[in-house]
Amino acid sequence: MSMRQEIQEVRRRAREELSACSRREEIEAASTKFLGRKGIVTSFMRKIPTLPQDEKKEIGRLLNEMKGEISSFIQEKSSQLEAAEAEAGLKAEGIDITLPGRKPVQGKKHIISQTLEDIISILAYHGFTVEYGPELETDYYNFGALNFPPDHPARDMQDTFYITDTLLLRTHTSPTQIHVMEKYDPPVRVCMPGKCFRNEAINARSHILFHQIEGLYVDEGVSFGDLKSTLYAFLSSYFGREVELRFRPSYFPFTEPSAEVDVSCFLCSGKGCSVCKHSGWLELLGAGMVHPNVFKAVGYDPEKYTGFAWGMGIERLVMQKYGIDDIRMFFENDLRFLEQF
Ligand code: PHE
Repeated sequence: MSMRQEIQEVRRRAREELSACSRREEIEAASTKFLGRKGIVTSFMRKIPTLPQDEKKEIGRLLNEMKGEISSFIQEKSSQLEAAEAEAGLKAEGIDITLPGRKPVQGKKHIISQTLEDIISILAYHGFTVEYGPELETDYYNFGALNFPPDHPARDMQDTFYITDTLLLRTHTSPTQIHVMEKYDPPVRVCMPGKCFRNEAINARSHILFHQIEGLYVDEGVSFGDLKSTLYAFLSSYFGREVELRFRPSYFPFTEPSAEVDVSCFLCSGKGCSVCKHSGWLELLGAGMVHPNVFKAVGYDPEKYTGFAWGMGIERLVMQKYGIDDIRMFFENDLRFLEQF
């Protein structure tokens, strides 16, 4: 057999043997056998110097060709084997890489936060800045400075969560009015959103936790007319149409006069529907002119300054807007509910 034929034969065998390899060790063995230092290809190379001059060049070229072919064959075979091993591994772990991927869930803000942000941006447009007060308050800020008499029923343990004799969870956002007026001289025009807590039985209509947004405007010559026009402008922006307002006389220790403000039903525009229980009106907020005793408590001169304030519940507003009939939904963190907003 000529050298050329022998080379052809080795190439064929290498191809055949490598094709039959199914394990890493077999490939390694074949690689040593053909390409190793004492392997077949090397032994052919050693013979080159003994060849006649005119054959040296051609045999050298054939040998190099064979060497290249065998090493790329080995490479191909090992990557095939690697892929097969990886797939077998995934199968063993019970992972099917052909299944479509799971979409990550897109998080978003809670509907109460969204609503508060909407309201804050509308109020910012009307010149209100934002201030946040503490949820843990003293008796003084929550009641005393707001002109609650010492024996007022709201101070009762039954309505208020007391932490100690004087520390409590704020029952409304009005104590933040006091912090703001202690911090700034008039004029002030601020809104104050936040959580409030009341010791109530939890049911579809009431909860121990809810949110309010408080508004306060103090300056020289602020009138009840300013309260009306501000609420009118703000609520018309919020509901996206001209609203009608109804002021009913009411009582709060920290405002005089005081009012409960109703807004014409956003759904039926006052004609009567299930949202407004066929009255045409929705109860929305408490408001009034800041009581002179509150000004005295914060060191404002009640002869010089007047002001208005309001406090508005957020949950009830959202419930009416979206037809939600159970306040507990807001605090249960059920994604089926939260994802709808
Ligand atoms: N703080 C009152 C409440 O929680 C609402 C209110 C705020 C009333 C400001 C008048 C002025 O019911």
